[in-house]
Amino acid sequence: MGLKRIKFHILVCKNDSCVERGGKEVAKALKRALDDAGLRKQVLLSKVRCLKQCGRGPVVVVYPDGVWYGGVSARDVAEIVERHLMRGAPVARKVLHLMRERTEEEPSRPKRCSSAREKTAETSAEGRRSLADLYERGVGR
Ligand code: FES
Repeated sequence: MGLKRIKFHILVCKNDSCVERGGKEVAKALKRALDDAGLRKQVLLSKVRCLKQCGRGPVVVVYPDGVWYGGVSARDVAEIVERHLMRGAPVARKVLHLMRERTEEEPSRPKRCSSAREKTAETSAEGRRSLADLYERGVGR
């Protein structure tokens, strides 16, 4: 996998508590949703050991945005891919934590996945508003 192609790195917890809550199904659904969206080459998906949020799993983390999702179900995955990865608008109701503040100079998201390029112009403003809104509302703190 060429590093230059990677736009997102997604961590999915595969430890016991998250698996008991459907973590395996979430990982499978994520692979399927990325395939369906044509994003597999632009997203590095890593199954990881405990992310220390065991009671709030299944836990999924999306970088470079630093958005931590909790209580993710297989049904939520398509929405995370479509809204967050393709439009830059995190799914607020599932956000556990936002790792960093976005600065004024920083664009809404570094780059969209190329298969979503046609949507980028019209949706980047939405994504920017959405992420800024989450920070403003203190979601995930
Ligand atoms: S088991 Fe998933 S966060 Fe600990």
